[in-house]
Amino acid sequence: MSPLIEQQLTQLQQTADEPVCAYLYDLDALAAHARQMREALPANCELFYAAKANPMGPILDTLAPIVDGFEAASGGELAWLAERHPQQRLLFGGPGKLNSELEAALRLGVECIHVESLTELERLVGLCARLGCTAKLMLRMNIPLDGLPSTKLAMGGKPTPFGLDPDDLPEALALVAEHPCLVLQGFHFHLMSHQLDPQAHLALMRLYFRTVKGWQAQYGLEAKVLNVGGGIGVDYQQPDRLFDWPAFCRELQALIIAEQMTGTRLRFECGRFISARCGYYVMEVLDIKRNHGEWFAIARGGTHHFRTPAAQGHDHPFYVLRGRQPARLRDAHVTLVGQLCTPKDVLARRQPIPELAIGDWLVFRHAGAYAWNISHQHFLMHPAPEQIFLSERAQGEL
Ligand SMILES: Cc1ncc(COP(=O)(O)O)c(C=O)c1O
Repeated sequence: MSPLIEQQLTQLQQTADEPVCAYLYDLDALAAHARQMREALPANCELFYAAKANPMGPILDTLAPIVDGFEAASGGELAWLAERHPQQRLLFGGPGKLNSELEAALRLGVECIHVESLTELERLVGLCARLGCTAKLMLRMNIPLDGLPSTKLAMGGKPTPFGLDPDDLPEALALVAEHPCLVLQGFHFHLMSHQLDPQAHLALMRLYFRTVKGWQAQYGLEAKVLNVGGGIGVDYQQPDRLFDWPAFCRELQALIIAEQMTGTRLRFECGRFISARCGYYVMEVLDIKRNHGEWFAIARGGTHHFRTPAAQGHDHPFYVLRGRQPARLRDAHVTLVGQLCTPKDVLARRQPIPELAIGDWLVFRHAGAYAWNISHQHFLMHPAPEQIFLSERAQGEL
């Protein structure tokens, strides 16, 4: 665990006068990880941060000087990113964009709009005519996987609401050719998230490269940029087993050369893999009880703060930080739940725990992405958890 987090937890244990429930973020670890990711990439690659993973101000502020830009997936995210980091390069994607959101993106002069459908492309033509501007865009494509493995969260490679069907590509290209206001920069792919296998991801990259080269030859296009999406996963079942990003990047470099892609800018827009590891969600055990033969620990907070385990349907990795009370349970299997009156408020099921007492803290790791921001925070009107951002580098500035 991060020494910064450890220090802060010890301090909190000494000073807290109420049962604790908090998110803690190690911003120094976030910066170091993002920097390593950025530096490992081959020369013709860029790293954008998909803000949907965690758009909190200090997270963005930490990443802004390191990444090449931010990706927004809604008008709300776009406005927030532009306000917080007006100098940053922005991408705007996502299905079901409103005209007002597309207009905001055009007025902001975003680097690229990821177009999801033919009708969105037509709406852009109308907006450009009204505003007297051009739209720099990529066509988001949903292509078949050609026998490649998928993951547990697929956005493409099968029927989904995301991206254009390749059958619609000729019509989309005809629209682009007909309207000089539509400036096609290239293609966008994000077929899956939760990718844990670097080899499978390299195979996916190869599929993207070959598909785009095929389209270039077929339609006489020049695609200068290729957005290869995000999707690098976090192994919640084996939390110390990391996707080997440096090895992936080394092999990517070789693939880029072999596939003659050095002249194309490759853009990653990763979310989970960038921010998940810097976040921790801490809950204090309020009660321990046996019910129909099973042990339950009821802790302060729950899935209304931290929906990740419910959303993923998994037992979230955690460890116990013992408090001052003598153990009430030893070597027991315990289900960890929150304060909500729904049986779905479960963070981990029947977990082996050597010792547990009321007042102990449950520290959930990998809670920095798709966690607080995807939670149903208003259910039961419990107070929000404290949000603690830690950095030795930027002390006093947060
Ligand atoms: C279009 C797009 N890009 C990037 C991402 C980020 O994915 P991840 O957090 O898995 O890296 C997503 C996630 O849903 C997405 O839909």
